Amino acid sequence: MEFETRAIHVGQEPDPETGAVIPPIHLTSTFAQVRPGETLGYDYTRSGNPNFTRLSTTLASLEGGTFATVFGSGMAAITAVLSGLRSGDRVLAEENVYGCTFRIFDRVFEKFGLTVEYVDFANPEEYGAIERFRPALVWLESPTNPMLKILDIAAISDVAKDLGIPVLVDNTFASPFFQRPLELGATLSLSSTTKYVNGHSDCLGGVVVTNDESWQQKMIFAQKAVGLNPSPFDAWLISRGVKTLALRMRCHHENALSIAARLEGCPSIRWVRHPFLASHPQFEMARRQMSGGSGIVTFELDADLEATRSFVSGLRLFALAESLGGVESLVDHPASMTHASIPRPEREKVGIFDGLVRLSVGIEDVDDLIGDLDRALARAGLTGFG
Ligand SMILES: Cc1ncc(COP(=O)(O)O)c(C=O)c1O
Repeated sequence: MEFETRAIHVGQEPDPETGAVIPPIHLTSTFAQVRPGETLGYDYTRSGNPNFTRLSTTLASLEGGTFATVFGSGMAAITAVLSGLRSGDRVLAEENVYGCTFRIFDRVFEKFGLTVEYVDFANPEEYGAIERFRPALVWLESPTNPMLKILDIAAISDVAKDLGIPVLVDNTFASPFFQRPLELGATLSLSSTTKYVNGHSDCLGGVVVTNDESWQQKMIFAQKAVGLNPSPFDAWLISRGVKTLALRMRCHHENALSIAARLEGCPSIRWVRHPFLASHPQFEMARRQMSGGSGIVTFELDADLEATRSFVSGLRLFALAESLGGVESLVDHPASMTHASIPRPEREKVGIFDGLVRLSVGIEDVDDLIGDLDRALARAGLTGFG
């Protein structure tokens, strides 16, 4: 079955008890046992629920993996993976990871004896750090948040595999419709399903998909032992949202690419990034490992902090909000919002300056969105598209 069919049918069969075409939400914390210790498959929702099983089955199929475990948020999924490491272990991470990924390394797990080292994985000369550092895990994100760097997942996984080191890819920005890290050689594909997978900005969720049985055991253990499970209602919402992933992603990609092309010709803008824009530094790589560039566009205004803030606040269709990947367009000012948890020197080292703006382009009419951007530039006293 093709992706679009699996998104609708795998794990989403009608309810065997009633025939309900849309399976019910199992809003229960606990399950009656037949005899002490003998269950009908579930005992307590922290360690499993039919809605988690259904969603995991769908997401494993879409990511091309054997196992999936669902969590209460993307950060819960990240916590699950990190809780599978030991004190004294090292992680070698891409330097432009999501702000809260950096923060959980720095402020939570380093306290328990984890060491995290950062490199620029877009530069193949830095792959040698894997052998030098011998980490317990290589942590990638591609495209990265918010710079949209594209990392060569297959090449990095090859280097790590030769050394017996697992590779994790945060696949949140691409979604499994555009990129499947396990097929490129990664050990773990992690996503915040809050974003594209659900697509409607109405709940939080996370998932880790793998073909590796021992990592899967760690994920199931973390779900119940650390208490990282989602709510059955949220799992049900994500099962509903994911059915239209393919349709939505095609539209996000087309709208984002059209907007990126318009922004590129605008005199108030220093540079624009979208993975499928020919000017993207890893454009060829993006086309090799992704089937679309997704809906995020990042650009730097040729403006100071005040004008940048005025621009992002002057948009009407793009809501000024954290998050991304929903059907509605959002705008983010990383330096004061999503990436404010990274100290300024580290932030600026990876290119997050005050003029940086990140758009999560939704699936509205693209000309309406372009008009909104043009008017907000004018309101901020900047030259628009002309
Ligand atoms: C790349 C990436 N990973 C993980 C997360 C965390 O996900 P959540 O907000 O669902 O905890 C985010 C959130 O923005 C993200 O952008």
